[in-house]
Amino acid sequence: MTRKHLIGTDEWSDDEIRSILARASELKAGAAGDSFTGKALVMVFFNPSLRTRTSFEVAMARHGGHAVILEPGRGAWTIETRSGVVMDGEAVEHIVEAARVLGRYGEAVAVRAFPSTDTWAEARRDEVVRGFARHAGVPTINMESARRHPCQGLADALTLQENLGERPQSRRFVLAWSWHPRALPTAVPASAALAAARLGMEVVVARPPGYDLDADDMASIGAVARRNGGSVSVTDDLDSAVSGADAVYAKSWGCLDDFGDFEEEAVRRAPYRDWIINEDRMSSTRDGAGIFLHCLPVRRNVVVTDGVLDGPWSRVTQEAENRLHAQRAVLETMIAGRKI
Ligand code: CP
Repeated sequence: MTRKHLIGTDEWSDDEIRSILARASELKAGAAGDSFTGKALVMVFFNPSLRTRTSFEVAMARHGGHAVILEPGRGAWTIETRSGVVMDGEAVEHIVEAARVLGRYGEAVAVRAFPSTDTWAEARRDEVVRGFARHAGVPTINMESARRHPCQGLADALTLQENLGERPQSRRFVLAWSWHPRALPTAVPASAALAAARLGMEVVVARPPGYDLDADDMASIGAVARRNGGSVSVTDDLDSAVSGADAVYAKSWGCLDDFGDFEEEAVRRAPYRDWIINEDRMSSTRDGAGIFLHCLPVRRNVVVTDGVLDGPWSRVTQEAENRLHAQRAVLETMIAGRKI
């Protein structure tokens, strides 16, 4: 079956995700990829990127296709993303026309749109990426929204499999909240936890009080974990969580109760500056050999120490490389019609 959209991996079945991961592994090992000759992926970046942009461009080129990059407000018209507004402000193009037109040019559209509102109730709807999906008329790929970063999650899952085995059930995956100078979105942590849950791992979310992920996202992570023989739990004891862990995934995110109130959030976050992944914590993982993951970009010696990033635990470069292979597999099914 050719899949219509990729907004979050939790909207795809276990079999579909397993198939994508297996194909990504084959492609990484050198299997001939399906041809994208004459096909285009139109990528719309409302926010900056290094890995997502480069890996998608290279993926399209690797299969003989073409990627078009648009940055609204920087060489492309500013896009109004709200419905029903009187467009007498700065934006000259509406998301409806933009999506409809781009869908006529490309076989798929990909969108990165971080939250741009002050309320979590609104941001959590992921209206921009879902708006493109509604109007483009072609498969739409979420390149990171407020709640999901599915391509990152697929790369995370592939990296876990490569290091811990194809079905790392009963292995512990710790999603470790980290201090950061800014309140960041929850797309990556939710997607990473979904990735580990999909592999049937024991998922432990270690976060300070008040830093729970969205309740629906936690329910989704729990459902995926249980279906695959895993579990999910939450703790505010980072050291106990990391001790004996097989994988530690550091990521910062903002308190959803303070969403949009960055000054208040910074005050709440201030006591947790020691929530950093360092060599001592990694040495306490299973046999001192747990793996360290992060989606990147990462602030050295804020989220994780130099010693961890440059030490034997780190798999962050492998994880970033896996973006390329996971996305090649996604594109094969979404624009070349490969059955999954
Ligand atoms: N991990 C990730 O999405 O990286 P970029 O923000 O650089 O694309």
